[in-house]
Amino acid sequence: MKQQYDQILVTPKPFVKWAGGKRQLIPIINQNLPESFGTYYEPFLGGGALLFHILTDKNGQKCSISDLNSDLVLAYTTIRDRIDSLIASLKNHEKNYQKNSESYYYSIRESNPRSEIEKTSRLIFLNRTCFNGLYRVNSKGKFNVPLGKYSNPNIVNEENLRAVSSILQSSRISIKCRDFEAVLRDAKKGDLIYFDPPYQPTSATANFTSYTNKDFTYDDLTRLAELCLKLDSRGCNVLLSNSDSKEVADIFAKNTWKITRIEANRSINSNSKKRTGHFELLIKNY
Ligand SMILES: C[S@@+](CC[C@H](N)C(=O)[O-])C[C@H]1O[C@@H](n2cnc3c(N)ncnc32)[C@H](O)[C@@H]1O
Repeated sequence: MKQQYDQILVTPKPFVKWAGGKRQLIPIINQNLPESFGTYYEPFLGGGALLFHILTDKNGQKCSISDLNSDLVLAYTTIRDRIDSLIASLKNHEKNYQKNSESYYYSIRESNPRSEIEKTSRLIFLNRTCFNGLYRVNSKGKFNVPLGKYSNPNIVNEENLRAVSSILQSSRISIKCRDFEAVLRDAKKGDLIYFDPPYQPTSATANFTSYTNKDFTYDDLTRLAELCLKLDSRGCNVLLSNSDSKEVADIFAKNTWKITRIEANRSINSNSKKRTGHFELLIKNY
């Protein structure tokens, strides 16, 4: 039976660790949200840190969420629609991992399950047990992260998964696997769009753009900037995160855009010294 909102005991949080995840920046992003808005769009969803924050704050908020990574989008819909079977499958992974973590990890990494439940439990299992909790694929789209060093990883975070499932069951939330441009045709005056695309590389950061087997190029960024201007002319509230790079500042140089430089620590960098002291940009039109 579907759970109702009022039965949620735990505040839902991202169920995967995702490169570029915004959990630590939620307080500052929250200060930069408009006071009120219509539909909330998040077309580079990833772990959905801001989505869960907004949904926790505003029960019943209308949302259109999407990402180009089909495994990730499948995980959202499987959690929403088939939570009991998913939890059973994750418990099975947990049991086998406890017997021999290394050989089990690599056997699952090499596997290519067909069913939606097994695909999603594989994604969550690998995310919980791989090095740095990173999702990264090679040019053929194959997950290629080695085993992480965890003594007791939390493979089945059942309470959170159930809270996520419950909140996603609202008929006011649509979930799609599409390119960012394709999902904003209906965005209208007063709606809020938060863009958190793969970042343009800066000299200080590693070039991490492998969320899918297609990299996010400079042409994609210019396509995004043009879309932002279109949305601005429609009267939408546009908020965008990106790296503190000259390329980005130049593309958003028009006085439509208010740019704030914010401090951000990177949770995903193999060198822990490089995780602090980074800045990034928050760009908005309101
Ligand atoms: C920086 S991450 C988003 C992180 C997210 N805000 C969070 O809190 O976890 C960027 C996301 O954009 C997705 N992506 C890459 N290219 C895309 C495209 N052309 N259209 C839509 N999504 C895309 C990636 O799959 C990735 O999940």
